Amino acid sequence: MNVRILVADASHTGYAERICELMYISAQERGTGIAKRSPEYIVEKMISRKAIIALHGDRVVGFSYIETWSHKAFVANSGLVVDHEYRHLGIGAKIKKSIFNLSREKYPDAKIFGITTGAAVMKINYKLGYRPVPFSELTQDEAFWEGCQGCRNYDILLRNNKKMCLCTGMMYDPAEHKSRRSAAARPAAAVPEKVTAHATAVSTKTVIIRIKEQPEKTGTLIKA
Ligand SMILES: CC(C)(COP(=O)(O)OP(=O)(O)OC[C@H]1O[C@@H](n2cnc3c(N)ncnc32)[C@H](O)[C@@H]1OP(=O)(O)O)[C@@H](O)C(=O)NCCC(=O)NCCS
Repeated sequence: MNVRILVADASHTGYAERICELMYISAQERGTGIAKRSPEYIVEKMISRKAIIALHGDRVVGFSYIETWSHKAFVANSGLVVDHEYRHLGIGAKIKKSIFNLSREKYPDAKIFGITTGAAVMKINYKLGYRPVPFSELTQDEAFWEGCQGCRNYDILLRNNKKMCLCTGMMYDPAEHKSRRSAAARPAAAVPEKVTAHATAVSTKTVIIRIKEQPEKTGTLIKA
């Protein structure tokens, strides 16, 4: 059966409770204690088409949503989660790519950022063209940093004046990529080798991943 990865909408609101459950379980596992999202919040993201959902038949197996900060100058792709039984199949990377593309489509001039301790997310972000940045380059919107209050490391953040913590800040700045793209359009001799890296087309088409029936924790990805 296929796992479909698509922009969530009002038809998916019935999945909100289960998505909150998946987020809660994964936060417990990681021991970060990140604030529990309410089903109402998830529903609002679906209705405003600011979320990506992964479905295996009628089972929700992954999710992520968009948040805007500093008057839409910054966008965060938050709440990324993949159901345990469906991990290591490439679903997380595909959701992240789709939510990234949706963010670029909706907010083409915004800087896209995240903070994470997760190796998988760092890897995915890097492939999308994010680079590690100090917290001072991220949104200074108080409301964003208040979201860290549920984390057990919040005292470390406060102790460091919100300038650093255990998470790594990562950011994709479209302005940097614009200049890379225009450099890439110049004659080949003038183009340094690295400028073509991370060129990312904007596309929010549904992505299909075909997986084996009854995937196990280490299931096999047949085709991405
Ligand atoms: C993070 C998460 C979404 C990854 O989902 P996934 O579907 O298993 O990820 P993918 O299969 O697409 O893997 C993407 C890459 O990360 C790597 N990866 C996956 N899990 C990893 C782990 N635990 N440690 C290190 N690398 C990992 C994969 O090998 C892959 O690398 P590759 O591109 O070189 O092959 C999933 O583990 C999850 O839901 N975790 C709990 C919630 C969470 O941590 N969210 C992020 C909050 S910032």
